[in-house]
Amino acid sequence: MIDEATAKSKYWVEEPPIHAHPDAVALIRHSRPEFQNAESMVDLLKDIRLKAWKIKYYPCVGLWHFFKFGMMQLPIYPEIVERLRQGQRILDMGCFMGFDGRKLIMDGAPSEGITNMDLEDQWFPLSYELFQDEDSFKGEFFGGCDINDEKLFGEGSIHRHRYDMIYIGYFIHLFPPKRQRVIINNLLQMLKPVAGSMIFGNTAGTAKENGYLMKADFAPPIKNEKGEFERPDFIFHSTRTVVDLMASSVGEDEEWEFIAEKSSFDTDTSPTKAFAQHFKDAEIVEVDFCMRRK
Ligand SMILES: C[S@@+](CC[C@H](N)C(=O)[O-])C[C@H]1O[C@@H](n2cnc3c(N)ncnc32)[C@H](O)[C@@H]1O
Repeated sequence: MIDEATAKSKYWVEEPPIHAHPDAVALIRHSRPEFQNAESMVDLLKDIRLKAWKIKYYPCVGLWHFFKFGMMQLPIYPEIVERLRQGQRILDMGCFMGFDGRKLIMDGAPSEGITNMDLEDQWFPLSYELFQDEDSFKGEFFGGCDINDEKLFGEGSIHRHRYDMIYIGYFIHLFPPKRQRVIINNLLQMLKPVAGSMIFGNTAGTAKENGYLMKADFAPPIKNEKGEFERPDFIFHSTRTVVDLMASSVGEDEEWEFIAEKSSFDTDTSPTKAFAQHFKDAEIVEVDFCMRRK
């Protein structure tokens, strides 16, 4: 794991971007009306973010990226809300504190159709500390779930073929490029095998056509083929490489639609000089994607 000082030098912005993300502020005020305005919740936000950071030095935590709703910025967001209203179920895999699920509920989706899942089980208690909605939130939270673990999605699992939609926000880039096809395949085993079911999300991407490869400095070192320890590979996908990834993850006899689009990377919450220097050649954008079964 990266040490805290190095992580902070690249991936830390002190103040929460309350003015860049009024939707996040409105969501918190929805369950915590005692906060009259955005400024009044800054101390609480900093306290919760620091607790999350001490659990893991994720760039998205230090840079406040979790404070924007990746899902609602997608063009298919109204469709997602509508499908949930009709009784479908969504899985937010790698949900962190469950911001996107709560936003769906605020926008009219029934909470019974929302499943949050994460490797960590410490995010959810933190989210209840922030939203204080433990008694009213009816969505599901599953902690301690590793997408690499076959027990999660294999025969006999309650999650197997259960979900109409699976959202992966800033998730796929956590895995080395050679592993990502397996990850999508594992997710596919939780998706209902019916027309219209879909996996969608966003990832840290690049404007370069063929993607951009780096070493993941925030991830623990792994042994390479020579038996030496090194940081795992990290890929910034382009729209082309993410479509290639999705297409290579499904069977040749299956019919799917694949869509990927660039959108701007959230610069309101970035970057320190060290961040800019570290990623100077990456031409970072956000890449949004969706694979939908025909
Ligand atoms: C970068 S955060 C993204 C959070 C949120 N989806 C968003 O868009 O802001 C990645 C999340 O994936 C979770 N995660 C990491 N590895 C995982 C794994 N192997 N299985 C399940 N979740 C994992 C982390 O705990 C973290 O909450």
